[in-house]
Amino acid sequence: MMNQAVGEPGVLLSFEGIDGSGKSTQARLLADRLEAAGYETLLVREPGGTALSEHVRALLLENTDPSLEIDPVAEVLLFSAARAQLVAERIRPALAEGQVVIADRFFDSTTVYQAAGRELSVEWVRALNMQATRGLAPARTYFIDLPLEEAQARRAAHAADRMETSGTAFFERVRQAYLALTQEEERICQIDGAQPLEAIHETIWADVQSFLPTAPRASSAPSP
Ligand code: ADP
Ligand code: TYD
Repeated sequence: MMNQAVGEPGVLLSFEGIDGSGKSTQARLLADRLEAAGYETLLVREPGGTALSEHVRALLLENTDPSLEIDPVAEVLLFSAARAQLVAERIRPALAEGQVVIADRFFDSTTVYQAAGRELSVEWVRALNMQATRGLAPARTYFIDLPLEEAQARRAAHAADRMETSGTAFFERVRQAYLALTQEEERICQIDGAQPLEAIHETIWADVQSFLPTAPRASSAPSP
């Protein structure tokens, strides 16, 4: 797989995990910490982040009209369309400017939710992922792992979207696929999502610091 770092001055990081595992919380904490340390940072969530991608998000997630069916192949193409636009319109330009881009979900979500969850061909979905991003892959991916029951309990406060009505067997396939993918892909770092959020954040921060170049703003700032 082509590494995004080749030819791009910026760095792409992604967060993955089942719904309610704590991704958005950690993505935000990391973005804030990076900004404070002097990095230009772009935080995006998938699906979404551009006008087109937000329209697609509404179709995929807010669809509560039972007469509007979404076939699994149509579903994977819609998630991919939303990502293609986000990569072209926002992520590539930000990387070209040297920004740290944090994606709250990226193509691993498609591999586990659509290939494993919806039981589509994993080879086909992976090929589609590469087409949608034109070969762009995250340098590092933080997979926040949490058992289904705990994730469900955490998200009990908000109404379920269309994907979240897919049932327990679906989400068990999704979680198992994340665990399997972690064994395959060196860039994926698995984190126990049952820990307090500050502990998770410190683990991620230590890892990010181990490979991120020095912040441009911090290094160019005049010494006091
Ligand atoms: P996701 O983006 O994976 O769906 P969120 O970050 O939105 O998950 O978190 C889901 C809920 O769980 C939120 O109410 C959040 O405040 C809470 N939460 C997040 N991280 C933790 C944690 N480590 N421990 C306990 N609760 C958490
Ligand atoms: P969202 O509310 O943004 O995430 P979360 O519930 O984790 O906070 O919902 C996005 C939903 O879309 C989530 O159920 C995962 C699903 N999804 C896919 O099925 N495939 C994909 O490629 C992406 C990006 C998301």
